[in-house]
Order: sequence, then C-alpha cells, then structure tokens
Amino acid sequence: MTSEFKSEEKTHFGYQTVDKNDKQNLVANVFHSVAAKYDIMNDLMSMGIHRVWKRFTIDASAVRPGNKVLDLAGGTGDLTRKFSEIVGENGQVVLADINDSMIKVGREKLENLGVVGNVEYIQANAEALPFADNTFDIVTIAFGLRNVTDKDAALKSIYRVLKPGGRLLVLEFSKPNQEWLSKVYDFYSFNILPNVGQLIANDKESYLYLSESIRMHPDQETLKTMMQSAGFDQVNYSNLTGGIVALHKGFKF
Ligand SMILES: C[S@@+](CC[C@H](N)C(=O)[O-])C[C@H]1O[C@@H](n2cnc3c(N)ncnc32)[C@H](O)[C@@H]1O
Repeated sequence: MTSEFKSEEKTHFGYQTVDKNDKQNLVANVFHSVAAKYDIMNDLMSMGIHRVWKRFTIDASAVRPGNKVLDLAGGTGDLTRKFSEIVGENGQVVLADINDSMIKVGREKLENLGVVGNVEYIQANAEALPFADNTFDIVTIAFGLRNVTDKDAALKSIYRVLKPGGRLLVLEFSKPNQEWLSKVYDFYSFNILPNVGQLIANDKESYLYLSESIRMHPDQETLKTMMQSAGFDQVNYSNLTGGIVALHKGFKF
C-alpha cells in the first residue's frame, strides 16, 4: 500500500486524525451518549437561537402542502415536526438518521406531541441513501453534514434522491465573519461549552468534539463549491448570527 493511499484512508474526528473506517463509530458513540440530553443541551448551548435558525430553514425551503421532504440526520426531529404540519395529510416527511438512539428520542418526542400520520422514521447513512432516484421535493440536513465521514458521497446521494426542481438545504455551523466574534466564540466553545456538557449531560468529551468538529468543517465558500461539484445549481448561502451558522441552498434541475 502506498503512503498516498494510506493518507486517503484517514479523516478528522474533531482535531484527531483517525482511520476513515473508525469515524462512523466514534460519531455514533457521541450521539448515543448525548441523545437523552440533546434537546435541553441545544437550548442551553445556543440560548434558544437554534430555533430561529431552524425556522429560517423552513421558510427558505418554500415547503408546500403535499410535498415529500427528507429530514436527513434528523435526530430529535425539530425540522420534521414543522415540516409535518406544513406538508399536511397529502404530504410526507421522512426523518432519516444513522443513529438509533437519536431516532428513538425523536420519535418518542414527536409521537407525544401528536405528530403522527405523515412521518416515517428510517435508520440510514447519508452517504448511501436507501431511496429511489427523484423521490423528494426537499432534503434538509441540519447540523448533520459535519459528522458525515464522506461528505462528497453524501451530497451526491442527496442529489440523486431529489426530484428535478427539488432543493437541498444544509444548515450547519460555519465561519464567523468578524474577528472579534471568532474570539468570543472560541472562548465560549472551548472554555464554557464542554463544562456545561459535563454538568448537564455528564459528558465533556462529546461537547469538546462538537467544538472541534465545527472548526474542522468546510467554510461557507468551500461548502458552496462542494455542493456545486455534486451537481447542485444556483447554490447560495445566508450567514446567520454573524456566520456562526450558515444556511446553504442548492437546486437539482
Ligand atoms: C447534531 S445532530 C442534529 C439533529 C437535528 N438535525 C437537529 O438539527 O437538531 C446530528 C445528527 O446527525 C446524525 N448523523 C451523523 N452522521 C450521519 C450519517 N452519516 N448519516 C445520517 N445521519 C448522521 C447523528 O446521528 C445526529 O442525530
């Protein structure tokens, strides 16, 4: 085996370099560990702002009654819940996630909220989606792409399952566009956040991974280029909260 080939087998898990084959299990351990406390930690960590980012995503998706939506890496189902209301009884929402602990917490939450009828739950890897070509009007992946080992494969797989005219929305942490904001955000991410994770979820490591994985994720322009390479047209993005988060949107024509 050549050294070039070996280096292709490596990837990032936060700041660590790991074998590509190991990343999926390491990510799985993170989400098995945080699943039960995921929602409360989201509210605490973002001071509730994740709700505004998700609302913005729903609005930008231009979802309509009767649409078929894939909420990929859907986790505990915040987007699924809103999509389910809008697509109505003639539409359908599929919450797909690789992690059965996250799906279980999400499914229980949504069923308790009375979100039933037009929602389906499927355990699936974004890199190889188990759906026919041209199935969905909309695919969203919120705070999920960062965790996927082969992001290019995931983007191609999403492109394949979108209908012509369909669109992908990627909501993900990105690069703050002001120096001062980066500094405050770094201090918060590495000094406060892991300690809140320890206190609430008894898990400092997973929240350190969160901060590190955000720093390793492609920035706004790089992700835009990756989406274009996967085939998406009219790709653009909006920075939210000074670029701490970005929403990328692209179409399949
Ligand atoms: C930070 S959570 C986001 C959950 C939800 N979308 C939200 O915004 O609250 C990331 C989710 O991505 C899922 N995930 C990670 N790798 C994945 C993959 N390769 N395919 C599908 N889901 C994946 C995890 O299991 C986890 O539920």
